[in-house]
Amino acid sequence: MKKALITGITGQDGSYLAENLLSKGYEVHGMVRRSSTETFMRIEHIREKIHIHQADLLDQLSLLNLIEEIRPCELYNLAAQSFVPTSWVQPFLTAEFTAVGVTRILEAVRLVDKKIRVYQASSSEMFGKVKEIPQTEDTPFYPRSPYGVAKVYGHWITINYRESYGLFACSGILFNHESPRRGKEFVTRKITDGVARIKAGLQDKLYLGNLEAKRDWGYAGDYVEAMWLMLQQDAPDDYVIATGETHSVKEFCEIAFDRAGLDWEKYVEIDPQFFRPAEVDCLVGNAEKAQKKLGWKRKVAFKELVHLMVDADLKRYQV
Ligand code: NAP
Ligand code: GDD
Repeated sequence: MKKALITGITGQDGSYLAENLLSKGYEVHGMVRRSSTETFMRIEHIREKIHIHQADLLDQLSLLNLIEEIRPCELYNLAAQSFVPTSWVQPFLTAEFTAVGVTRILEAVRLVDKKIRVYQASSSEMFGKVKEIPQTEDTPFYPRSPYGVAKVYGHWITINYRESYGLFACSGILFNHESPRRGKEFVTRKITDGVARIKAGLQDKLYLGNLEAKRDWGYAGDYVEAMWLMLQQDAPDDYVIATGETHSVKEFCEIAFDRAGLDWEKYVEIDPQFFRPAEVDCLVGNAEKAQKKLGWKRKVAFKELVHLMVDADLKRYQV
């Protein structure tokens, strides 16, 4: 039985990846940080099938001991401070988790067993103020937030450990991916949760920031399959994972409110506090390399994604 270790298993992607690997017959281990209250909501339904261990990206020894104890074949490093606005408020912490944390993982792998295959969760946020459209694996980076800068570090240190020590380390440059398990602070889930609360009479308005921002939004369930595919190849490499379509926040609102029979313009208000010090205006990826080499293809289209998120939130509020 193949063993996998997932850091960030309590997050959106970690929960889908754990399900995916269980369905493939893996023994799944998840790393969680110590907390006074458990944050296991997303993995509650598979809790009995997986093994949970405490360690922290900030603590080198805990990572070393954990990897030594489990000896996984594959390690998926999904843990990070992943919310872009927080990265301006906590830039040092973001750098420690999201940048240097990657080196701690790679060092632990290097010291324990160089044969462990590593997936690093890189991000389209690295393209920031984009240098070309659409973005590919060769597009130069121009990050626009401390989070984006930290991810660029994580990306390059992964490549560096591959080239310096021969680690099988892959970096997946994933564009935004969403689901009913997305955190409520991210714009898609904030909208679909808002729609459901308005429909249920729990709130009157939804306050948002930049409605003109455009993103290449896919479904998280499709994207975790790409992570796994990257670690099954003969050689390690980096891949863009994206849909190739871009849509504005406004468009997302229109479709989401319409799904609940509401007119978005009556409910959405602009609140300047949600604008960012530096914005990423438009992202759109070209996943041709992943399609050709990994045989990866997204299954859920944009409108279907919005509908499935709205439907799940309406169900949560029983409307
Ligand atoms: P998420 O829902 O925010 O999950 C982040 C996970 O990291 C949580 O399990 C969190 O644990 C854990 N974590 C944070 N700091 C930690 C630390 N110091 N030690 C151990 N664990 C820690 O993020 P996601 O959407 O699943 O994304 C997964 C990864 O992909 C992240 O690295 C993100 O930056 C990257 N990414 C995401 C997207 C996207 O659109 N979703 C796109 C590109 C890249 P707690 O439960 O304790 O908070
Ligand atoms: N969060 C949020 N809240 N965003 C808003 C709002 C709001 O009220 N109003 C407009 N937006 C705009 C933001 O300005 C941004 O341009 C866009 O909506 C998307 O914001 P988020 O959903 O917070 O995601 P993100 O693109 O900044 O970052 C996500 O995707 C990255 C990949 O490109 C995160 O998942 C990152 O971890 C990930 O790396």
